[in-house]
Amino acid sequence: MMSLSAQAIAGHMAGHPWADRITVLSTIDSTNRLAKELAAQGAPEGASVIADRQTAGRGRLGRGFSSPAGAGLYLSVVLRPSLELLMSLTCRVGVATCRALEQSCNCSPGIKWVNDLVLNRRKLAGILVEVGYAKEQPAYAVAGIGINCARAREDFPPELQATAGSILSETGIIPDRSLLAGLLLKQLAALPDAPWLEEYRRRCVTLGQQVQILRNGEALPARALDIDGQGRLLVAYPDGRREAIGSGEVSVRGMYGYV
Ligand code: BTN
Repeated sequence: MMSLSAQAIAGHMAGHPWADRITVLSTIDSTNRLAKELAAQGAPEGASVIADRQTAGRGRLGRGFSSPAGAGLYLSVVLRPSLELLMSLTCRVGVATCRALEQSCNCSPGIKWVNDLVLNRRKLAGILVEVGYAKEQPAYAVAGIGINCARAREDFPPELQATAGSILSETGIIPDRSLLAGLLLKQLAALPDAPWLEEYRRRCVTLGQQVQILRNGEALPARALDIDGQGRLLVAYPDGRREAIGSGEVSVRGMYGYV
C-alpha cells in the first residue's frame, strides 16, 4: 500500500479549508484519543488525525479496533456540531463514509445499525463518535472512522475471522487511502447540510430483520422496524411492546449471525 501523507491527502481536497488541518502519524495509541486532546485545547472544526497504525484503537462499548500498519485507514476528525445535529451525528458520519467509499472504491456498503459498514455481510468499517463536555455542555465531538482497506479475511484476529472483511477481501480493489481520506474529510465537512435519514434507511441492513437486543447480559428478540430522526432504532418485541433504542446502550445482532 502507498504510504500516507498529509500532502497526498490534501492533494485530493482541491483547496478545501480542512486540507490544512491534517496531521498524519505513523503510529499512535488511538487517533480518537489525540483528536479529543486537540479539541479540548481548542483545535478548529475539521482538524484531523490520521495514523498508519494504532496500538490501542478504540471501538464502541469499550471494545478495541484492530489497526495494524498499512492495512486500514484510521482517521479522527474534530467536529463542533449544534446540539440538534449531535443527536444524529453518528448516523450522518456513517452515510458520509459510505459515500466516500462509493466515490473512491466503487463499492456500495450497507449499514448495520448503528454504524458498522458491511459488505457481503462482513464488517468493513466501524465508527466511534465521542463527545467532549465543558461546563456540562457538549463542547466538541470527535468522529473516529476505521476502514479495513487491504487485509485478507484470514489476517484478522481469530475472533473476527467469521465477521470481518476489508475492501480488498470483498471487492478485489486495493484502495488508495489518501484519496479515500480526502473524499471522506470533504464528505464530513458537508455533514450539516446533508439530508441523511432516507439514505441511512435505504442502506440499513438491520431494518426488517429479526434481531437480538443485547443489554446488561440479556438477549431480547425483537423485530427492527425503523430509524427515527435522532438515529434511534425502533423495535417491536414479541409481546407487541415497542421501544426506540439509542446507540449508547445496546448492541444488536442478527438472529442467526452478525448482520
Ligand atoms: C467500532 O467498530 O466499534 C468503532 C471502531 C472505530 C475505530 C476508529 S479507528 C480511528 C478512530 N480511533 C480510534 O481509536 N477508534 C476510531
